Amino acid sequence: MRVIIQPDGDTIAALVAESIVDLVNEKPNAVLGFATGSSPLGIYRELIKAYREGRVSFKDAWGFQLDEYVGLPADHPELYRNVINRDIESQVDFAEGRVHAPNGNSEDLQSAGDEYDAMIADAGGVDFQILGIGTDGHIAFNEPGSSFTQGTHVETLTPQTREDNARFFGGDISRVPTHCLTQGLGTIMEARKVALVATGEGKAEAIAELIEGPVSARWPATILQHHPDATVLIDEAAASKLE
Ligand code: F6R
Repeated sequence: MRVIIQPDGDTIAALVAESIVDLVNEKPNAVLGFATGSSPLGIYRELIKAYREGRVSFKDAWGFQLDEYVGLPADHPELYRNVINRDIESQVDFAEGRVHAPNGNSEDLQSAGDEYDAMIADAGGVDFQILGIGTDGHIAFNEPGSSFTQGTHVETLTPQTREDNARFFGGDISRVPTHCLTQGLGTIMEARKVALVATGEGKAEAIAELIEGPVSARWPATILQHHPDATVLIDEAAASKLE
């Protein structure tokens, strides 16, 4: 696992976006893994800028989201499918039907999860996975105690994660869904390249565990220590609890 410490989130976003631009230029039908939340927003802004400058086209590329809330209405602005559509998909030239999310409104969520893993495999597997990290060490929504080998599955969000995400729901935790359909750690570990980005002191404990702690389901992100091509990009505040 490589660790890159930069002065700020903008520098990190530019570095990650440049790697993605290079990848898509080399492999136009690359499969990109999209995270939601605050951490990847700068990366998406840089990708949109590169597209507008004519430095990259996504017309043959694929996108697979990490996770989706269970039970949010199709037109809810915080449905992750809508978030990614708004923040990146609709602003560049992805072809119709090339960006996907797990279906958190399926009547059979586990079958929907299995189908999602099959779709990722059919597209050739994820070439470049963008990840954020939760304050409790989750990646995607694999909360503490998650299996290291699972595929896409239903997860119960911890009170801490729901509190952290309440800012997207008008600050009201009762409006944050209790469950999600998420890629498992097994799915994420199959991505060929992974870039985890984190900024701010709130992430410092999870980052210290990720980089210096033992591999443990207590801090799910630590499984990335075993990934053959994972890079962790953090600012100085997120690095502040490293020894
Ligand atoms: C979202 C996701 C989560 C977030 C994490 C950090 O798709 O998979 O793991 O990356 O909760 O969220 P932010 O970036 O908002 O701090």
